[in-house]
Amino acid sequence: MDETKGVAEAFRDRWVFLTGVTGFLGSVLLEKLVRSCPHLAGVYVLIRKKKKFTDVQQRLETVLSLPLFCRVDKDLLRSKVVAVEGDVSLNGLGLEDVARRMVIERCHFVFHVAANINFNAALHQALSVNLAGTQRVLQLAKDMVNMKGFVYVSTAYCNCTQRDVVAEKVYPNRWEVDRLLRILAEQPPDVINGSTDRILGGHPNTYTFTKLMAENLIASERGDLPVAIVRPSIVIGTLCDPIAGWVDNVQSGAFAFIAGAGRGVFRTLPATGSRVADIVPADQLVALLLAAAWRIADTGRLQVFHFTSGGRNPVTWSEYCRLAVTKLRENPCTGLILYPRASCRSPTTVRHALYVAMAHYAPAYLLDTLAKICGDKPILLDIQYKYSKGMAHTDYFTRNEWNFSTANTEDLWSILGETDAKEFSFDVGKINWPTYIENCVLGVREYYHKQPRSTLPAARKYLKL
Ligand SMILES: NC(=O)c1ccc[n+]([C@@H]2O[C@H](COP(=O)([O-])OP(=O)(O)OC[C@H]3O[C@@H](n4cnc5c(N)ncnc54)[C@H](OP(=O)(O)O)[C@@H]3O)[C@@H](O)[C@H]2O)c1
Repeated sequence: MDETKGVAEAFRDRWVFLTGVTGFLGSVLLEKLVRSCPHLAGVYVLIRKKKKFTDVQQRLETVLSLPLFCRVDKDLLRSKVVAVEGDVSLNGLGLEDVARRMVIERCHFVFHVAANINFNAALHQALSVNLAGTQRVLQLAKDMVNMKGFVYVSTAYCNCTQRDVVAEKVYPNRWEVDRLLRILAEQPPDVINGSTDRILGGHPNTYTFTKLMAENLIASERGDLPVAIVRPSIVIGTLCDPIAGWVDNVQSGAFAFIAGAGRGVFRTLPATGSRVADIVPADQLVALLLAAAWRIADTGRLQVFHFTSGGRNPVTWSEYCRLAVTKLRENPCTGLILYPRASCRSPTTVRHALYVAMAHYAPAYLLDTLAKICGDKPILLDIQYKYSKGMAHTDYFTRNEWNFSTANTEDLWSILGETDAKEFSFDVGKINWPTYIENCVLGVREYYHKQPRSTLPAARKYLKL
């Protein structure tokens, strides 16, 4: 491959089609594309219409005005990013004919990031978005006249049923993709949902199962399309690019824990402390997505890339918990409800359930009742439920650990030129856990709890009282 033509050059005068831009990773990817690939022609972003917004352009504006985009010129951003209305669960992605034609004629790369990431979404819903949706995006990519590469964001845990080293290859499932798609087309949602356990087999939830089936679909239907399947483990805030600790939601359990423990309402991390917390930074992941696109555009092959930290730079759940609590005490939230204190507890024990009831819900219930008596608004139970949602159904992943092969990712890293290795770094060996977790704590405080840095000195003083 021509290594003198680096990653950014692969996007010179190219158009990109991107799904999932209103989500955490899609927005980080869009920012990096526009900032680090200056000769990029433009990006079409597929956005669903939502009631709260007049149109998809307004939804795009909300994304572009996030602090994440602070290093990109706003005019440049608006001139390069084009919103198209669509929904991956609809036939033809719900694209209007004109938009479809434009995308097909212009685009060279597709990054399919959108997914239903709710672990326990109803099977019908998860299949519609994650499997049938991927088929629709893949078909669009195959229709593109100038197609150079299709990058699919999968998950390392789609192979969580594997007990040996998980290889960078697509693992078949006893279910055939065609059969599942036929069931989806022919059976009513409640019949499909009623068969969830039977269909999932050993999978712990509908998310990992449908992501695995999407990989199988891509492998069997890609034809000669160059494809990269990138499998990250648990993705949390950015390491440093474009800002440290960027986060816009706390849907992942590891982040929900920081958000909840930061307010003092979480006292326990449901995990086996000695197991590896396989966490990776969002900015490194998007750097890998771009480098993978560059690679497959050249090789024309299907390649799978694991993006995990456990093998090279591991941190355990108890270490993660200890670091998070230490950093939360050093950088406390304003309006702290209880002193930040937490430890790992095995999520399957009765002791843990009792502890959650006593240490999380009982004080929240009591203080809310007191608030009501004093004429104040009760908020604690709501907060407790909100953060608990992010932590729900994660115990399968915090009780177990996997050994992911990362040979392809390491090989890709080794062939990056010097400039690319700086601009598109995905070297997990560089993660300094105490610094990174502190930045994530600060990021959750600033971008999620919306507490500006200027409020830190007062919050620190309050905690010392
Ligand atoms: N975050 C992680 O820890 C992690 C780890 C491994 C893999 N991944 C993978 O990374 C990808 C992105 O995850 P994320 O954390 O960024 O999730 P996220 O914040 O929930 O974003 C999901 C995105 O998908 C879009 N989407 C969902 N259903 C759609 C539909 N029917 N049509 C069009 N767009 C739809 C959402 O749009 P709306 O705003 O309209 O809902 C949103 O933009 C997913 O493929 C996920 O499997 C994530």
